[in-house]
Amino acid sequence: MLNIVIFGAPGSGKGTQSTKISEKYALEHISTGDMLRAEIKANTEFGKKANSYISKGHLIPDEVMIDKLDDLMKKKNGVKGFIFDGFPRTIAQGKALDEMLEKYDEKVTVVLSLEVEEDELVDRILKRGEISGRSDDNRETVEARLNVYHNQTEPLKNYYSEQFKLVRIPGQGTIDEVFESISTVLDRIIG
Ligand code: AP5
Repeated sequence: MLNIVIFGAPGSGKGTQSTKISEKYALEHISTGDMLRAEIKANTEFGKKANSYISKGHLIPDEVMIDKLDDLMKKKNGVKGFIFDGFPRTIAQGKALDEMLEKYDEKVTVVLSLEVEEDELVDRILKRGEISGRSDDNRETVEARLNVYHNQTEPLKNYYSEQFKLVRIPGQGTIDEVFESISTVLDRIIG
């Protein structure tokens, strides 16, 4: 299996590139953000609780997200591989993902880290906020999301680079240019 973690700050293009990767390489796209937004839209109890974290730019607690990911993976039998988008976001989630994959005799193949400057991230998110209706696409929450990213998520870069799995992808070109860089890396891995 090809198991990809797509990694990067809010607005770095994880969702956009995951869609393209899943189409080209026939992989299962698991987006924890999309899953949470579906719960919010359906107005479930879990969705209401999740929104109270998301609208402040905070992370949902690890144990809750780890259980959710476990559930999502159990439903996906016989796939060629996964793209994990938005998970892991903490070292604890990274370790939990390794354990979950081990149960299937699998591991993370590669971590694609989308590198985008902070000004560009903020511009992209505020622009999307004009039409997305996302409760976290506003200036105040963006700052909180970026802080959370730097403090809690970015340490995963070290975690994966120590395992020689981290590949940095320049994330500021056009969507197609970024995808070309990603494809070059993945085609090399597939051989
Ligand atoms: P999540 O949905 O994962 O949001 P995020 O990480 O903040 O990322 P975004 O969706 O904002 O951006 P993206 O990197 O996917 O970029 P996109 O392709 O959309 O999580 C939301 C919240 O849910 C979290 O803050 C947290 O509260 C909670 N959560 C989720 N997972 C969790 C977990 N595991 N644990 C705990 N809590 C969790 O692109 C952004 C914009 O830029 C788009 O408009 C796009 O069209 C545009 N764009 C993309 N690429 C380019 C390009 N190359 N050039 C110009 N524009 C571009």
